[in-house]
Amino acid sequence: MTRTRWAAAAVVAAGVAGLFGAQVRAQSRWGANYFPNVALTTQDGDRVHFYDLIKGRIVAIDLIYTTCEYNCPLETARLAQVQRLLGDRVGRDIFFYSITIDPEHDTPAVLKAYAEQYHAGPGWLFLNATLDDVDLLSKKLGLYSEPNPENKDGHMPTLLIGNEATGQWMRASALDNPQFTAAMIGNWMSSWNGAAPGKSYAEAVPLQLSGKGEYLFSTKCVACHSIGGGDRIGPDLAGVTAKRDRLWLTRYIAGPDQMREDPIAKHLFERFNRIRMPNLNLSEDEAGDVLSFVDAQTARHR
Ligand code: HEC
Repeated sequence: MTRTRWAAAAVVAAGVAGLFGAQVRAQSRWGANYFPNVALTTQDGDRVHFYDLIKGRIVAIDLIYTTCEYNCPLETARLAQVQRLLGDRVGRDIFFYSITIDPEHDTPAVLKAYAEQYHAGPGWLFLNATLDDVDLLSKKLGLYSEPNPENKDGHMPTLLIGNEATGQWMRASALDNPQFTAAMIGNWMSSWNGAAPGKSYAEAVPLQLSGKGEYLFSTKCVACHSIGGGDRIGPDLAGVTAKRDRLWLTRYIAGPDQMREDPIAKHLFERFNRIRMPNLNLSEDEAGDVLSFVDAQTARHR
């Protein structure tokens, strides 16, 4: 990735606190003239214009790059869950747009392969534009910020949700509970059509979490892994603690990007469509908590 890309990759939006209160405050009213009508190319090679993509629609927009090994894989996997929860509304009145901030590498063909890896359905476009246009757009959307050398990822998982017709826009974390995000997009954003106001965070489906490991698993792993429910984007983790050395697992979960040359990691990478397990910033202690949860769940599935 080039230097300029790192600059654009530092997508640290001002309102990203990740707390619901901050998200609501981030809501603003943007008129039609606000958006630059830049030309973009979809993963199918179609030429489109930004304003046409959002006009009269409820949309969720995020910035990604396909070679990202930090937050974006989880963001994309989460958004795929949100898409499944919203069902066929996606492509009808709701649309998802993932715009690459590394357009030189992420050609439409690369984006198409990426979309397929994450099982993105209709109504979800992966978009490429010129570097200048991506910067312009990300600045206008409040998804851009100056580079921060302290931030290895250089990317904050921000999802911009909006309803162009009503002028309601807000920033959410792309790593929120998918059920909450889906409720947010499907209910709150639809309130213009006379439906009841959207659910508040307090009303969102409560997660029944008993411990730290379960919490971590349900927020950071479940988009890609099940425990006893079969392979998803990554392998089914049932029994993995019996199959592999504990220390290896701990190191792998805490720093998969440090283990690219490890023979087991290489083999898994080939087996899982060359999707990389992302570095999710877990400490080794936290990895241990998740593994205890995996142990307990595995025992329940026996
Ligand atoms: C974006 C998807 C994604 C997320 C999120 C993710 N993983 Fe993975 N994981 C993978 C993929 C893909 C692999 C297969 C190896 C590879 O290609 O890097 C993998 C492999 C693994 C393995 C090795 C399995 C084996 O058979 O040895 C473990 C353990 C694992 N992940 C645990 C976790 C845990 C714990 C979390 C949450 C903290 C997590 N993963 C989050 C995608 C993901």
